[in-house]
Amino acid sequence: MSKKITKICCIGAGYVGGPTMSVIAQKCPNIKVTVVDLNQARIDAWNDADTNNIPVYEPGLPEVVAEARGRNLFFSTKVDEAIAEAEMIFISVNTPTKTYGTGKGMAADLKYIELCARQIARVSTTDKIIVEKSTLPVRTAEAVKSILQNTGNGVQFQILSNPEFLAEGTAIEDLHAPDRILIGGDPTEEGQEALNALVDVYANWVPRERILTTNLWSSELSKLTANAFLAQRVSSINALSELCEHTGADISEVARSIGTDSRIGPKFLNASVGFGGSCFQKDILNLVYIARSYGLQQVADYWEQVIIMNDHQKRRFGNKIVKTLYNTVSGKKIAFLGWAFKKDTNDTRESPAIFVADDLLNEEARVSVYDPKVSETQILGDLNYLHTRSESKNAELITVLDNAYECCKGAHAIAIMTEWDEFKTYDWEKIYANMTKPAFVFDGRNVVDRKKLLQIGFKVYTIGK
Ligand code: UDX
Ligand code: UDX
Repeated sequence: MSKKITKICCIGAGYVGGPTMSVIAQKCPNIKVTVVDLNQARIDAWNDADTNNIPVYEPGLPEVVAEARGRNLFFSTKVDEAIAEAEMIFISVNTPTKTYGTGKGMAADLKYIELCARQIARVSTTDKIIVEKSTLPVRTAEAVKSILQNTGNGVQFQILSNPEFLAEGTAIEDLHAPDRILIGGDPTEEGQEALNALVDVYANWVPRERILTTNLWSSELSKLTANAFLAQRVSSINALSELCEHTGADISEVARSIGTDSRIGPKFLNASVGFGGSCFQKDILNLVYIARSYGLQQVADYWEQVIIMNDHQKRRFGNKIVKTLYNTVSGKKIAFLGWAFKKDTNDTRESPAIFVADDLLNEEARVSVYDPKVSETQILGDLNYLHTRSESKNAELITVLDNAYECCKGAHAIAIMTEWDEFKTYDWEKIYANMTKPAFVFDGRNVVDRKKLLQIGFKVYTIGK
């Protein structure tokens, strides 16, 4: 028998907490779901009367929010209140790579997780099930447990690990029909009861055989492992893309050829300018840090190579542009199509576009950017965050436009940084006519029709060809 959950609270209304809780509320109309966040502006945006203005751009999400919000889905900054009334609390706050102290640049910063645990301990007067949704280093649950048990008001806490595998851009599909749900819990009777309570929540729409249960540590490590394997696949295909460029092989043909082997499979074999996103780099660095902390040097070095390859791929793309444009881009206009780390999201965290732009600005290029979903404030913020040059210098060298044709006008080269579908359907002859000649296209995502562009007169570089 497991306890029936009627009230859920989620701390953190970000790219993970927002969509995940919206779908839980949609699929479980009898559960009241309250998503809380410290950031008032973010909560206000989630509550915007027009659901197209919610802070996370994700296909299908506005419809889900419209269906559940106000019925059993609520967004609020009243954190204490929501914690107090809930039987189950998801922690979905960010866990960025540490920027200070021990483990700087490698380890996950668990400051926000600890703050959440202390707040829950302080506010709770009834028993709670705490669910780690944020991706965490192995054995974090132990620290959370210790804080709760030593600072709480004598109430009982059970800790579960329930990592999220959704990918941005397809979050709603992934949440509606997940490959699997993973839940880790303690083997004790109380632990299993808590675990079953969460299984019952998901069983409202996910077939039971897709709900996997493990111990806490396996669950925590599985999330890091899944992201490490996925990122490794991208670095593997990217490593071979460089070899293709030197040998006359074509990376798309190689990918298709190996992808038909059912043991390898066809997905996640697109060569690119590099992977981005909030998770891959952070989670691998974290894995490397954990391995090193146990003295496992070879294990750490093995996984670190995935990051080294990705950094190389980003740098290589920028270098290629400079080299091709007769070894100088100083004063030249380079048009970026796309800034997000992948299509169908407004998220730019760790986007390769940021690092390629930074390299080109160091070479004194002028960069104009068009992305269908990313704002000028975000783009400038991403560059300023690197502290490579002054904010005013960035603002002087970068122009953000809301029209792709304007963005490319007069440019010496176009760099395609994100695989937005709309890039395929542009009037490329019109773009060509308005560019400085010779007109170059550097396709970092293998997205445009190379043959057609060559026919028009473009000089085209495609990764891995
Ligand atoms: C985050 C983590 O990055 C990821 O590892 C994990 O798997 C899920 O949570 P994401 O949702 O993309 O991913 O992060 P973000 O969009 O930054 O959202 C986190 C939210 O938590 C922010 O809105 C922030 O304001 C909020 N927050 C943070 C709190 O409400 N309280 C805190 O103490 C800290
Ligand atoms: C990833 C995981 O897929 C997801 O399960 C986890 O919960 C969070 O991290 P996300 O970062 O949102 O999701 O997107 P994903 O589709 O995995 O793409 C990550 C990066 O890899 C993107 O920059 C993407 O463009 C790149 N990529 C992906 C490639 O370059 N080639 C590919 O074949 C696939």
